Amino acid sequence: MSQEFRNLDMTMMFAIHDALRRELERIARVTARVEEDPRRVLGTAVGWELFKKFLTIHHTSEDVTVWPVMQQALAGRPDELALLEAMEAEHAVIDPLLAEIDAALADRESGLERLGGLTDTLHARVGGHLDHEERDALKLMDLTMSQEQWAVFSTEQRTRVGDDSRRYLPWLLDDLPADKLARVIGKLPEQLRTAYETEWRAAYEALDIWGAKTGSAAG
Ligand SMILES: [Fe+2]
Repeated sequence: MSQEFRNLDMTMMFAIHDALRRELERIARVTARVEEDPRRVLGTAVGWELFKKFLTIHHTSEDVTVWPVMQQALAGRPDELALLEAMEAEHAVIDPLLAEIDAALADRESGLERLGGLTDTLHARVGGHLDHEERDALKLMDLTMSQEQWAVFSTEQRTRVGDDSRRYLPWLLDDLPADKLARVIGKLPEQLRTAYETEWRAAYEALDIWGAKTGSAAG
């Protein structure tokens, strides 16, 4: 997606959204597999744990440091406020859905019947939300937020990731085409780039977050 942004650097925002979309596709593949019980595969995969964690961090950071700031700046503008309300509402349905999927994974009796429908819903809701945000909300962020406010959002996300940046960064960059990879790596502080290249990337690959079969199917 190419859009013009005049004020804010959206490189990381698009990178996170693309990583979440990539994982939604992998989750769809895992749950479509017939040769193994997807409850076991999804329930034990590091990939599922990372997806939930990083999705939640991204959304919570926006809920805490983006929408309220924009709501204040856009007071009295009903159309814009309605869009922000929609963003919050779209986020709010995701957490219960993740919990329902975890409940289905743990349910030996009827979990399997529910799982496919739930992961389809997850795909539709998260995918639909990311598209909606990119289509309508990023432009408004760019017009509304200051560099300082944008930096607060980045810091919030980084703080919430905390020590897990050793998994977050290679997860974010997993499977990126070379041009995008170069662009995102170019934004990183030297220290993080070095850690990624010399240590974190290999450690992440060794984690094989969805198991080798899915990884190779992912290409
Ligand atoms: Fe986002």
